[in-house]
Amino acid sequence: MTSLPGWNFDTFAEGIRAAGMAEPPVSKVIPGPVHGTDRMITNLASVNFLDLQRREDVMRVLLDATKQYGLATGGSRILQGVTPAHVDMERTIADYLQKESAISFATGTLANIGFMSAMAGTQSLMKGLSMVNRDVVFVFDRDAHWSLWKSAESLKFGERLFSFEHNSVESLEAILKKLQGKRVVVVFESVYSIDGVVAPMHEIVDVCEKYGALSYVDDANGFLVYGPAHRKFHQEYQGLLRSTFIMVSLKKAVGLEGGLIAGPRDAIAAFELLSGASAFTAGVLAPAAAGTTYITKLLTEQEPEIVDNYLAKVADFRKRLTDEELPITDTETCFTSLVVGDEHKCLRLFGAFLEHDIRVPPYVYPAARRGQAVLRIILNASHTDEQLDHFIEVSKKLREQKLF
Ligand SMILES: Cc1ncc(COP(=O)(O)O)c(C=O)c1O
Repeated sequence: MTSLPGWNFDTFAEGIRAAGMAEPPVSKVIPGPVHGTDRMITNLASVNFLDLQRREDVMRVLLDATKQYGLATGGSRILQGVTPAHVDMERTIADYLQKESAISFATGTLANIGFMSAMAGTQSLMKGLSMVNRDVVFVFDRDAHWSLWKSAESLKFGERLFSFEHNSVESLEAILKKLQGKRVVVVFESVYSIDGVVAPMHEIVDVCEKYGALSYVDDANGFLVYGPAHRKFHQEYQGLLRSTFIMVSLKKAVGLEGGLIAGPRDAIAAFELLSGASAFTAGVLAPAAAGTTYITKLLTEQEPEIVDNYLAKVADFRKRLTDEELPITDTETCFTSLVVGDEHKCLRLFGAFLEHDIRVPPYVYPAARRGQAVLRIILNASHTDEQLDHFIEVSKKLREQKLF
């Protein structure tokens, strides 16, 4: 084995091997309700929670688009162009989010990196064609996703980067008050998957408008799940639509791969070059774009009951967990976590569930705050009653053994 003296890889690798996290688990099926190679185990880790790829019609759209377009991107969108499948997807999602325009990226992470690059950077393409943003200041919810904080790493905290207390409009307003006169962008999420809480989006946008700040909401988790009038959080989602920019990931309800930002037409056009993430790397695969358009219409127009049934199933399951007095996060969203706290305890519990053929993933720092580790339980639309009964029985047993 090659060793790299002076580096800490050996001890670090040993530590994560001991925690069972040195290698991604291999599964011969699309990550969904089950997971595994020879033996299938119950999977509560997949964010592909509607499990739509198993539907014949969805498969057909993906296969047809693969035959038509193939699985290469050929390069970056600005140089190689995009397919009609991309154009349709961007139009469909911009319309759904009530924005003028949308641009897609290979992942949601790249959308966030691209946004920060475009909004924070100063770029001069040629004489008379430049964007000078070195004065722009960003205010993040402190629990915003890793990809957002990573993209802001080069900004000096306290000068160009500030954070407000999680979901606190008062804390945000206190910061915006101090930043009056500056160009400010407020960055937050719609639904935070670790605590399962929905942001007070109307109130956040109200404060942004009061102080002339732009708003950017990362709706990776709630896209296509929340918004309609008959569902919970409709009021909050009316606030989301008022945000200047909305980012979505295609990994979750859609269950494919990609990310989009929707917003004002000229800004989105400028992102083609300024984001870097559309000019220097590959974009969404055409079949994923075609699948996304199909699934978006399926969930919003043809069969919205897919989401309604899923949410009812989650509510039912949550009630069972609460009735059993298991320590879960206090939320009504589809994101539920078992609250553990200590990181080591959380990893031990993850291992104990695995021994009972259940994969329920540990979220430790930096995914969760330090000392506030959780096991995040993502219910899948295709989980069977037997699988869920088994999870509850095992949870009770591990609780009795004082593992959490
Ligand atoms: C809130 C949030 N933003 C961004 C991302 C990144 O999206 P993607 O996985 O499409 O890169 C995630 C992914 O889990 C997320 O939860």
